[in-house]
Amino acid sequence: MKATIRAGSNIAFIKYWGVDDAAINLPQNNSISLTLADAYTTTTLEWLPARDLTRDELTLDGVRLDERKAARLVRHLDRIRALAAVDDRARVVSQNNFPMASGIASSASGFAALTTAACHALGLNLDATRLSAIARRGSGSASRSLFGGFVEWERGHDDASSVARQLHPADHWDLYDVVAVVSGAEKAVSSEQGHQLAGSSPLNRGRVAGLDHALTEVRTALADRDLHRLGPVIEQDALAMHAVMMTSSPSLLYWQPGTLEIIHAIRQWREQEGLAAYFTIDAGPNIHVICEAATAPIVQSRLQTLSSVQQIIVSRPGPAPVVLREHLF
Ligand code: DP6
Repeated sequence: MKATIRAGSNIAFIKYWGVDDAAINLPQNNSISLTLADAYTTTTLEWLPARDLTRDELTLDGVRLDERKAARLVRHLDRIRALAAVDDRARVVSQNNFPMASGIASSASGFAALTTAACHALGLNLDATRLSAIARRGSGSASRSLFGGFVEWERGHDDASSVARQLHPADHWDLYDVVAVVSGAEKAVSSEQGHQLAGSSPLNRGRVAGLDHALTEVRTALADRDLHRLGPVIEQDALAMHAVMMTSSPSLLYWQPGTLEIIHAIRQWREQEGLAAYFTIDAGPNIHVICEAATAPIVQSRLQTLSSVQQIIVSRPGPAPVVLREHLF
């Protein structure tokens, strides 16, 4: 009744931003991401009878969560309890190998690991597609972390059909995510709240209208391992998403001065010196630089010269969640 799972975070090339149905995290559009090998969450979960443990006990990065902080995770465990028709309580110990505020999505790896560990420890024999749908309810982007490598989350039309699938395995293309951390401060507005504001931006409709084309471009660029086809599309979608964020009501402005410093630097290195690297940005101020393996050390040493870069985290493409230990009955 106990399992330990490691799940990688992911970085989206075409973003999930905006929900059509917040109750089930049904997104307004498909998204495409890369699962990360070197930014992951390791979660050990043990189910105990309710008479031995009166409520779920959750420890995250060494800190025991209070009721308020645990609420979103307990709601997720409730879904899995309902599915398995049990009322056991969970003891969960979860550890990220990257700082929470690094701009790497801990909710993606966290909910992928939690879902997989909880279902494994209950002996539920669910495939990755089913686990993807369950993880999605906890955190939208977690649906993609159920698969390794290059992944597309199909919007679908209901709870069962809104799931991710693998486009290519991790070894298809040695594409790196070099994360330049500008600020470690916790964000003022969570993605969960942000997704519900997207529709209030006059620019949202314009972004969504261009997505079919952008998704096709990204699929083709990934299939052909063509960075110069991929790069402009991912930069454009990250900027379009941030334009939607900035113009929603209330306005969400995640960028810091350092965000712009890095954007300008990358464009300059690329346009004037031919450095093959492109950026994307999630719901925060930090910049993810996407490049091929051979370019990653150069990107890293250049980023180190910028005054606004506090920390750099480098990741390769990663696998689907891995079962590290399993104890059944
Ligand atoms: C900007 O998956 O973190 O990273 O579903 O509320 O947990 P919740 O949101 P989340 O949103 C991710 C938004 C994004 C883009 C992306 O990863 O696609």
